[in-house]
Amino acid sequence: MKNVAVLGYGVVGSGTVELFEKNRESISEKIGRDCDVKYIVDLRDFPGDPFEDRIIKDFNKVLEDDEIEVVAEVIGGLKPAYEFTKAALEKGKSVVTSNKELVAEKGAELLKIAHEHNVNYLFEASVGGGIPIIRPLNKCLAGNKIEQISGILNGTTNFILSKMIKDQMDFGTALRLAQELGYAEHDPTADVEGHDACRKICILGSLAYGKHIYPEKVHRSGISHITLEDVAYAENAGYAIKLIGSVKPAEDGKVSAIVSPRLVPKSNMLSSVDGVYNAIYVTGDGVGDVLFYGKGAGKLPTASAVVGDIIDCLKHKERSIMISWNDCTDDDYVVKYKTVENSMYVRIQADNADELKPAISELFGKLTYIERAGRPDNELAFITPTMVEGVIDEKLEQLSHSADIKSKIRLL
Ligand code: HSE
Repeated sequence: MKNVAVLGYGVVGSGTVELFEKNRESISEKIGRDCDVKYIVDLRDFPGDPFEDRIIKDFNKVLEDDEIEVVAEVIGGLKPAYEFTKAALEKGKSVVTSNKELVAEKGAELLKIAHEHNVNYLFEASVGGGIPIIRPLNKCLAGNKIEQISGILNGTTNFILSKMIKDQMDFGTALRLAQELGYAEHDPTADVEGHDACRKICILGSLAYGKHIYPEKVHRSGISHITLEDVAYAENAGYAIKLIGSVKPAEDGKVSAIVSPRLVPKSNMLSSVDGVYNAIYVTGDGVGDVLFYGKGAGKLPTASAVVGDIIDCLKHKERSIMISWNDCTDDDYVVKYKTVENSMYVRIQADNADELKPAISELFGKLTYIERAGRPDNELAFITPTMVEGVIDEKLEQLSHSADIKSKIRLL
């Protein structure tokens, strides 16, 4: 049977077709019947492509073809992915996707539509590329209360930070290298400013805690302001700077979620995750810590997760796999990040900065000054005690009357 359609023939789409065709025989054995990709939908032309005869431009052909059971939406973005996904589910076709933006914005609604039509909406590839994380959270770890999910969710920023830490490459040079190697997009905003990691932590948090976490409710900061000076202070004090997304339960049934660079102690395994790899800690009240590690991006690793979902849909024809969360209308479901306690690395500049030490100690109480080779007289770096973030900000505001606050990075 030719029962699969792939929407979007970019990096992930072509990887999906390639992997599916390469392993089609074993896939057919696993699902117990024949299967194949019938259509690849893309508005572009691909002359000479080995699958050119399957490429079509009109999505309606997929919708109207009763032989198609599963649609792989790997277009990305909200338009036209949202309309296409909704239409396919309403036509009784399962949809699988790598599209984290769509799942993070419309997941609750699309899952509801899938259940109403007794089909599936699966998105293993939307978080962590090839790393299995959605299924383990939804199934193997379902007996736990999830105490925290925290990790490196973006390969591009991890590559850039690794280059800054290991090769003392500045941010701009490391970003250009990431673009040359095809990791970062021409417009790198979604990766470097943390939007991509934010969407991923929202998906994981929605799944773990049962209510939709919308990206605009989550405080997010990226890595574009990180300097080699910060990297050097962190390194010298026994930390690596990593972009970390985390979500955990808070009081009164709320959640705390945030994406930001953090100083990760060298004793924590996340500190040694380098390059485009991702690593995600899940802490459950029964299982303790579980670490998921692997290639978080790339053609075939992402295709691996997409094809896994296609197989699951074909195996569960006319059966809805229980994966869902409720929509959330409570504007305060995600607690305000300024009310959460953190310890903060701070770098300041002022004439004769060392002379400010007594005043800084009076402001923060017991804090730790840290060093770097060649620290100039006009620079000082320290780590605050753990305090409510709003209080740290008030103290830094007072300090800003006598010094420039150059950097402020949370500790993990
Ligand atoms: N741009 C993403 C990353 C791709 O760098 O992790 C995978 O979601």
